[in-house]
Amino acid sequence: MTVTFAEKLARMPGYQAGVPTGQAPEAIASGGIAQLASNESPFPPHPLVIEAIQRTAAAMNRYPDPDATLLRRRLAERYETEPGRIAVANGSCEILLAAAEALCEPGAEIVYAWPSFSMYPYLPALTGAREIRVPLAPGDVHDLEAMANEVTAATQLLIVCNPNNPTATHVPAAEIAEFCERIPPHVTVILDEAYIEFQTHDDPDATLDLLGDFPNLVLLRTFSKCYGLAGLRVGYAIGSANFRAAVDAVRQPFSVNALAQAAGAEAILHQDDVLRRVESTVAERLRVEEGLAELGLETSESQANFSWIDLGDAGEAEVVAGLGERLIAVRAGTPLGDPGHIRVTYGTAAENDRFLGGLSELLD
Ligand SMILES: Cc1ncc(COP(=O)(O)O)c(C=O)c1O
Repeated sequence: MTVTFAEKLARMPGYQAGVPTGQAPEAIASGGIAQLASNESPFPPHPLVIEAIQRTAAAMNRYPDPDATLLRRRLAERYETEPGRIAVANGSCEILLAAAEALCEPGAEIVYAWPSFSMYPYLPALTGAREIRVPLAPGDVHDLEAMANEVTAATQLLIVCNPNNPTATHVPAAEIAEFCERIPPHVTVILDEAYIEFQTHDDPDATLDLLGDFPNLVLLRTFSKCYGLAGLRVGYAIGSANFRAAVDAVRQPFSVNALAQAAGAEAILHQDDVLRRVESTVAERLRVEEGLAELGLETSESQANFSWIDLGDAGEAEVVAGLGERLIAVRAGTPLGDPGHIRVTYGTAAENDRFLGGLSELLD
């Protein structure tokens, strides 16, 4: 007899790292590799966040607070809501997985757009739910009309990634509100707002106003992107107290480590710093998009910290490999759902120049 594993294991999509694992931290720290493959921030955390992590490190002999009391209270103050409506997690990915586990049985349906965030296919694979992938509309934007039309009595979860990864497009809050009106109350709608701070259509907090009208709506946010804390793994959801209780019930009590709790609780206090980070990202966005247009390349309208580039006649594999030889890591479009594209995160100005220079050489 040999060990056998659960059938669902064969369904799991697996994750491809943005840079070869093992080499990454040293090469990135030395400035060797321009890490433009994972939509991270090129800026280190706020100095007071680093101090909070250092202070907390001395108490690592203790388990973290299972209720993440300080972090949830600070988030509640920032968003003018109650801590009971905030779930925190080991990255917002963990909330996605926990939501699927808490909401879906085999036979349930999960609706999401495609191409969209590569983690979403894990949810049906893990739970045995049926996935309904709704193609993006022209312009690489969510087709909310088509998504609403896919909702049935079996739909348990509907995810809207806004701005969308990998296409960087954003649907304004007013359209999200109209969409929510059409979704019946038995469907949990997760609005994945990992990149919301980078969009300039709306106030980034505009969707918070919808929570009062739609008790089935959950906003999913993270410290991994504009706060520069991807390495610590901390994300959060704002929704109903029932949603929070459900995702907490299916996870281990200590999923957010003490360093991550301390860092998040400090980082949320520095909204001026968030604004500065967003401003410099938006400035780089304009510069990179201009550079791409000069190379004759089309992009979807980016409202995030990355561009989704249509390579036209250039070969995706050759471009990704050629950039790799120049130590510039970007994402190939094929595994993200649309061959003939690459996704590039905006790095520092110097990294972006290296990227544009490398790409220009390859297209020549
Ligand atoms: C759309 C989207 N949602 C969620 C996440 C996950 O972020 P976290 O680091 O909080 O797990 C990402 C990360 O790339 C993302 O692109």
